[in-house]
Amino acid sequence: RRLLLVNGPNLNLLGLREPGIYGSATLADVERIATEAAAAYGFEIRAVQSNHEGVLLDAIHAAREDCAGIVINAGAYTHTSVALRDALTGVALPFAEIHISDVYAREEFRHFSYLTDIAAVHVVGEGVQGYATAVRRLILLIAGQAD
Ligand code: DQA
Repeated sequence: RRLLLVNGPNLNLLGLREPGIYGSATLADVERIATEAAAAYGFEIRAVQSNHEGVLLDAIHAAREDCAGIVINAGAYTHTSVALRDALTGVALPFAEIHISDVYAREEFRHFSYLTDIAAVHVVGEGVQGYATAVRRLILLIAGQAD
């Protein structure tokens, strides 16, 4: 079984970008953390990162074919993208919304998310280890639904 891991805009800069907020781990570290957390339950991870909204939409659509759920850090699109929300609703896969930083302790424009009310799992402010939490909680939820 497989999960899609989606990282949105600017997350390719992890490790370089605002390390005081996001830490020093890189995108490769994040993908490894998620892959290891999933492997413990016999799940694979397909990882995608893009700075282009349409690429993220296409990856979400494709997940319908062969993924049991989605773990997504939509970056700034979290706060702006009805299209991303509609893609997630459209494929009807359970998903985990994850943010590395505590978005609620930051600027007001980060407090609203187009994803929160439709996400099955929320992880906020746990740093990059939050990806492992998100993977674990989503898999437990999927396993609970399956049998
Ligand atoms: C983020 C929080 C967003 O507000 C921001 O635009 C990001 C990263 C996080 O992981 O904390 O790009 O999703």
